[in-house]
Amino acid sequence: MKNILVLNGPNLNLLGEREPETYGTMTLAQLNAKLAVYARKKGAALRARQSNHEGELIDILHAHRKWAAGIVFNPGAYSHYSYALRDAVASISVPTIEVHLSNIKKREPFRRTSVIEPACVGQLYGKGSASYFTAIDMLLKRKAK
Ligand code: DQA
Repeated sequence: MKNILVLNGPNLNLLGEREPETYGTMTLAQLNAKLAVYARKKGAALRARQSNHEGELIDILHAHRKWAAGIVFNPGAYSHYSYALRDAVASISVPTIEVHLSNIKKREPFRRTSVIEPACVGQLYGKGSASYFTAIDMLLKRKAK
Protein backbone atom coordinates (compact mmCIF):
# COMPACT_ATOMS: atom_id res chain seq x y z
CA MET A 1 0.00 0.00 0.00
CA LYS A 2 1.23 3.48 -0.83
CA ASN A 3 1.35 6.04 1.95
CA ILE A 4 0.52 9.66 1.15
CA LEU A 5 1.22 12.61 3.43
CA VAL A 6 -0.95 15.69 2.95
CA LEU A 7 0.80 18.63 4.57
CA ASN A 8 -0.67 22.10 4.93
CA GLY A 9 1.23 25.16 6.06
CA PRO A 10 0.37 28.42 7.79
CA ASN A 11 -3.16 29.77 8.01
CA LEU A 12 -4.64 26.76 6.25
CA ASN A 13 -6.06 25.61 9.60
CA LEU A 14 -8.54 28.47 9.09
CA LEU A 15 -9.87 27.17 5.78
CA GLY A 16 -13.61 27.66 5.59
CA GLU A 17 -13.54 30.94 7.48
CA ARG A 18 -10.39 32.50 6.00
CA GLU A 19 -11.09 34.71 2.95
CA PRO A 20 -13.77 32.32 1.62
CA GLU A 21 -14.01 34.25 -1.66
CA THR A 22 -10.42 33.15 -2.36
CA TYR A 23 -10.11 29.83 -0.56
CA GLY A 24 -13.67 28.48 -0.50
CA THR A 25 -15.92 27.42 2.34
CA MET A 26 -14.69 23.89 3.01
CA THR A 27 -12.84 23.47 6.29
CA LEU A 28 -9.50 21.72 6.48
CA ALA A 29 -11.07 18.90 8.50
CA GLN A 30 -13.70 18.39 5.78
CA LEU A 31 -11.08 18.46 3.04
CA ASN A 32 -8.85 16.00 4.89
CA ALA A 33 -11.78 13.64 5.45
CA LYS A 34 -12.64 13.66 1.73
CA LEU A 35 -9.00 13.13 0.79
CA ALA A 36 -8.71 10.18 3.18
CA VAL A 37 -11.78 8.50 1.64
CA TYR A 38 -10.45 9.18 -1.86
CA ALA A 39 -7.02 7.76 -1.07
CA ARG A 40 -8.51 4.70 0.62
CA LYS A 41 -10.63 3.94 -2.46
CA LYS A 42 -7.43 4.02 -4.48
CA GLY A 43 -5.74 1.63 -2.08
CA ALA A 44 -3.57 4.23 -0.38
CA ALA A 45 -3.23 5.32 3.23
CA LEU A 46 -3.33 9.04 3.96
CA ARG A 47 -1.99 11.06 6.84
CA ALA A 48 -2.92 14.74 7.10
CA ARG A 49 -0.86 17.26 9.05
CA GLN A 50 -0.91 21.04 9.38
CA SER A 51 1.37 23.53 11.06
CA ASN A 52 1.72 27.29 11.19
CA HIS A 53 5.43 26.97 11.96
CA GLU A 54 8.25 26.60 9.46
CA GLY A 55 10.45 24.44 11.70
CA GLU A 56 7.56 22.15 12.55
CA LEU A 57 6.77 21.67 8.86
CA ILE A 58 10.41 20.69 8.35
CA ASP A 59 10.20 18.24 11.26
CA ILE A 60 7.02 16.70 9.81
CA LEU A 61 8.66 16.28 6.40
CA HIS A 62 11.71 14.64 7.98
CA ALA A 63 9.59 12.39 10.19
CA HIS A 64 7.67 11.08 7.15
CA ARG A 65 10.65 10.55 4.86
CA LYS A 66 10.58 6.78 5.31
CA TRP A 67 6.81 6.41 5.70
CA ALA A 68 5.54 8.44 2.75
CA ALA A 69 5.63 7.30 -0.88
CA GLY A 70 4.44 10.75 -1.89
CA ILE A 71 3.65 14.12 -0.36
CA VAL A 72 0.98 16.68 -1.25
CA PHE A 73 2.25 19.96 0.16
CA ASN A 74 0.53 23.33 0.41
CA PRO A 75 3.23 25.47 2.02
CA GLY A 76 0.96 28.55 2.12
CA ALA A 77 2.89 31.83 2.11
CA TYR A 78 6.14 29.97 2.88
CA SER A 79 6.04 28.88 -0.76
CA HIS A 80 7.18 32.29 -1.79
CA TYR A 81 10.27 32.66 0.39
CA SER A 82 11.19 29.64 2.50
CA TYR A 83 14.48 28.24 1.30
CA ALA A 84 14.50 26.10 4.44
CA LEU A 85 11.33 24.31 3.32
CA ARG A 86 12.67 23.98 -0.20
CA ASP A 87 15.81 22.34 1.22
CA ALA A 88 13.68 20.08 3.43
CA VAL A 89 11.76 18.81 0.39
CA ALA A 90 15.04 18.36 -1.49
CA SER A 91 16.60 16.57 1.49
CA ILE A 92 14.07 13.78 1.61
CA SER A 93 13.78 11.69 -1.50
CA VAL A 94 9.99 11.53 -1.43
CA PRO A 95 8.21 12.85 -4.55
CA THR A 96 6.36 15.97 -3.49
CA ILE A 97 3.68 17.91 -5.34
CA GLU A 98 3.11 21.53 -4.35
CA VAL A 99 -0.53 22.55 -4.37
CA HIS A 100 -2.39 25.81 -3.94
CA LEU A 101 -6.10 26.43 -3.73
CA SER A 102 -5.91 29.80 -5.44
CA ASN A 103 -4.31 30.79 -8.72
CA ILE A 104 -1.01 32.13 -7.40
CA LYS A 105 0.00 33.23 -10.91
CA LYS A 106 -2.89 35.67 -11.12
CA ARG A 107 -2.67 37.27 -7.69
CA GLU A 108 -0.21 39.71 -6.11
CA PRO A 109 3.28 39.63 -7.68
CA PHE A 110 4.89 38.20 -4.50
CA ARG A 111 2.77 35.05 -4.87
CA ARG A 112 3.75 34.31 -8.45
CA THR A 113 7.06 32.68 -7.56
CA SER A 114 7.47 29.57 -5.49
CA VAL A 115 10.96 28.84 -4.20
CA ILE A 116 9.78 25.35 -3.23
CA GLU A 117 8.57 24.33 -6.69
CA PRO A 118 12.05 23.43 -8.05
CA ALA A 119 12.37 20.75 -5.35
CA CYS A 120 8.97 19.26 -6.24
CA VAL A 121 7.93 16.86 -8.98
CA GLY A 122 4.91 18.99 -9.83
CA GLN A 123 2.89 22.08 -8.95
CA LEU A 124 -0.88 22.52 -9.14
CA TYR A 125 -2.83 25.69 -8.44
CA GLY A 126 -6.01 27.58 -9.16
CA LYS A 127 -8.48 24.73 -9.04
CA GLY A 128 -9.46 24.93 -5.37
CA SER A 129 -9.45 21.65 -3.48
CA ALA A 130 -9.38 19.66 -6.76
CA SER A 131 -5.61 20.20 -6.85
CA TYR A 132 -5.18 17.98 -3.80
CA PHE A 133 -7.11 15.11 -5.42
CA THR A 134 -5.22 15.48 -8.69
CA ALA A 135 -1.94 15.48 -6.78
CA ILE A 136 -2.89 12.20 -5.09
CA ASP A 137 -3.68 10.70 -8.51
CA MET A 138 -0.36 11.88 -9.90
CA LEU A 139 1.58 10.46 -6.96
CA LEU A 140 -0.19 7.11 -7.13
CA LYS A 141 0.50 6.86 -10.87
CA ARG A 142 4.23 7.32 -10.36
CA LYS A 143 6.26 4.17 -10.55
CA ALA A 144 7.85 3.22 -7.22
CA LYS A 145 11.63 3.67 -7.32
C1 DQA B 1 -2.08 29.44 -0.86
C2 DQA B 1 -1.51 30.63 -1.65
C3 DQA B 1 -0.50 31.39 -0.82
O1 DQA B 1 0.00 32.49 -1.55
C4 DQA B 1 -1.13 31.90 0.46
O2 DQA B 1 -0.17 32.54 1.25
C5 DQA B 1 -1.80 30.81 1.22
C6 DQA B 1 -2.65 29.89 0.48
C7 DQA B 1 -3.21 28.73 -1.62
O3 DQA B 1 -3.51 27.59 -1.27
O4 DQA B 1 -3.78 29.31 -2.56
O5 DQA B 1 -1.74 30.75 2.44
O6 DQA B 1 -1.04 28.51 -0.63
